[in-house]
Amino acid sequence: MKRKWLLGAALWTVCATAQPQMISGPGAALTQARCSVCHEPQHFLRSRLSRGEWEDVIDFMIKRGMPPLTKEEHTIIVNYLATYYGRDPAPPPAPDTYASADPIETLLTKHACTGCHAVDRKLIGPSFREVAARYATDGGAATRLAAKIRNGGVGVWGNVPMPATAGLSESDAAKLAQWVLGQK
Ligand code: HEC
Ligand code: HEC
Repeated sequence: MKRKWLLGAALWTVCATAQPQMISGPGAALTQARCSVCHEPQHFLRSRLSRGEWEDVIDFMIKRGMPPLTKEEHTIIVNYLATYYGRDPAPPPAPDTYASADPIETLLTKHACTGCHAVDRKLIGPSFREVAARYATDGGAATRLAAKIRNGGVGVWGNVPMPATAGLSESDAAKLAQWVLGQK
């Protein structure tokens, strides 16, 4: 068994120079050096694995004869594989990013408006463009819409009600109404 892998190792060492490059990034060179002894990169990099699964693979490779890695090398290789060949879902945005994003988008997402409304097509509620068009010449619309966004209501666009939006301040509701009316 072991001899077979040593033969494989020798073959892949010969071929390694001809292999297509791995995605370049921090850790690529080390990963290539350690893993391509026995594999062609495009073989083992077909896998899209989670960070934990990549850790398991590396432990398994060590059992299969890969020389043990130092803790630092282990971290570098796992980071590389999990970053460029990972399948973990993207992490949720960090609080900073969230706060610095477009404030209207933040409100629309936070209060789930986008679950029922889109700018350019009807979902459960009317599209924001339709709303803007309907009130284009209505000077009092901003105030009325701000109140309706906070309190909910029904009957203007059909018989599906819009629920009240809990926890939406008057000033944020006013910003949203103003923004909706600008979607032409
Ligand atoms: C000493 C040789 C050796 C080294 C070095 C080595 N592997 Fe392996 N690897 C193997 C063997 C042998 C298998 C097949 C295991 C089996 O199926 O029994 C394997 C299988 C795999 C598989 C599963 C491939 C498939 O069939 O889809 C992955 C993924 C993998 N290796 C990744 C790596 C990574 C990443 C590295 C570098 C951190 C690495 N290997 C280093 C020997 C090695
Ligand atoms: C659960 C679905 C739902 C959610 C969540 C929702 N809406 Fe609505 N919205 C509706 C429906 C349905 C209507 C149509 C109500 C009607 O016919 O009077 C509507 C109507 C509107 C109108 C037009 C009101 C009018 O009288 O013409 C605006 C503006 C609006 N929504 C903005 C928002 C904003 C901003 C949010 C987030 C704070 C939001 N909506 C959240 C379903 C929803």
